[in-house]
Amino acid sequence: MSDEGGSLSACPTTGGACPTTGGSNGCLSHSPLTTRYSPRNCTFAPNKNYAMDIKNNILETIGNTPLIKLNKITRNLPCTVAAKVDYFNPGNSIKDRMAVKMIEVAEKEGKLKPGGTIIECTSGNTGMGLALAACVKGYKCIFTTTDKQSKEKVDILKAVGAEVIVCPTNVEPDDPCSYYSVARRLAKEIPNSFHCNQYDNLANRLAHYETTGPEIWKQTEGKITHLVCTAGTGGTVTGTAMYLKEKNPAIQVWAIDVYGSLLTKYFRTGEVDMNEVHPYISEGFGEDFVPDNYNMSVIDHFEQVTDKDGAIMARRLAKDEGIFCGYSAGSCIQGLLQIAGNEKFALKKDDLVVCIFHDHGSRYVAKIYNDQWMMERGFMDVKTFKDIVSGRAAKQKLVTIEPGHTVAEAVDMMRKYDIEHIPVINGNGLVGAISESGLFQKVFSDPDIKNAKIEAVMEPAFPVVDYNTPIEKLRTLINKDNGAVLSKDEAGNYHIVTKYDVIQALGN
Ligand SMILES: Cc1ncc(COP(=O)(O)O)c(C=O)c1O
Repeated sequence: MSDEGGSLSACPTTGGACPTTGGSNGCLSHSPLTTRYSPRNCTFAPNKNYAMDIKNNILETIGNTPLIKLNKITRNLPCTVAAKVDYFNPGNSIKDRMAVKMIEVAEKEGKLKPGGTIIECTSGNTGMGLALAACVKGYKCIFTTTDKQSKEKVDILKAVGAEVIVCPTNVEPDDPCSYYSVARRLAKEIPNSFHCNQYDNLANRLAHYETTGPEIWKQTEGKITHLVCTAGTGGTVTGTAMYLKEKNPAIQVWAIDVYGSLLTKYFRTGEVDMNEVHPYISEGFGEDFVPDNYNMSVIDHFEQVTDKDGAIMARRLAKDEGIFCGYSAGSCIQGLLQIAGNEKFALKKDDLVVCIFHDHGSRYVAKIYNDQWMMERGFMDVKTFKDIVSGRAAKQKLVTIEPGHTVAEAVDMMRKYDIEHIPVINGNGLVGAISESGLFQKVFSDPDIKNAKIEAVMEPAFPVVDYNTPIEKLRTLINKDNGAVLSKDEAGNYHIVTKYDVIQALGN
């Protein structure tokens, strides 16, 4: 049998023609499904040699994540850009790697003993990795996090058995209420506990030195020229860069930071300037102190990205590349594009840039992937009733009908103007509405409906809203009982917006 999906094997039962599939070349252990999904006609090829491949536990699936070429979002760059997409890890983030490493090192050093409690301050991803390891290895987990983190992240940690304590964001790191201080205090109070301290625990960067770096080197056959990576604890960028620079010191390492973090200024000047620090919305990277995991000598450049630009770019990644990543992946690409626009760093045709994407977009569905959230923060333009009307190609006068007209006349108008909704107006203004769906329902109880007067069959008038009402609000007014909304423009003319207008506007 060819394992590339060519001719099929003899039947293992008869040694020749298969009685189930009916032909001498028609058996792959009797299953028509295995034939259909053979590598030749399927993009997700089955295990070629059909050898038993069972992982001993979930931790064995960490690492060996794919490197995926970006095809659209970086098309204006002269070189190849590939993403190390680490949401393929079982905890959906790159932090699984260092979480397990921190536990392994603590076990080896006798700092974590059977039945012990793992304590950590984590924005979620490290916690997920630690919780998975704790499940497999039989430890308890207590995590402290900030009220800035998405609720989904906290709920996910609870789902895998962790206890989560949410602390305020806007306090100094050494404030007793900060999530750093609370973790430190718990580690002192709880017997047989181990505070991982991902910031200063060098097992963090060691994990990336031992896995992320070598994987990238191998996957690029040593041709990588640039590494681009968001930086928080510094473990990912430092550990990966340390390995890659050992292999080839010419590789350029660009760390991506966020406005509101002090890391960039520290990198440029060596000064820990608290004036740089202000609250930011981006999650997972940037810091208000310099963790011990940094070795700035392996980093060539730091670039800051705004909350808005990172969020918009993450959404583009999902739409353009089908890579549904977290906030920091958007910031990573935004940072790369900013740097590439600087002559000093000009990329060349033969360069091979690797960007690290830390986590999955599912943790941000209520945030950057939610239009309302984006609009409230000014990251997305708020579209209004007025925008929909202004965007129409032809300025059409609102089609209306009077209560004394017949259904047949209304149907003629619908056909003529290709519309489904007609407001009913008399001398006093809006008195009702006619809709195609409403008429359709009434046809069954009154087959002679076409001769009925509009006033006998009309529905309640469409709601009237302010001309600047946001689309999000219109969406709540349009439902199965009410297919449209009306509003008056500055000159006093009525316009109509239907559910199709709203759907179209939301899709743009
Ligand atoms: C989503 C996300 N992006 C980026 C980072 C930054 O990685 P590191 O802490 O290794 O610098 C983190 C770290 O928690 C993260 O969770």
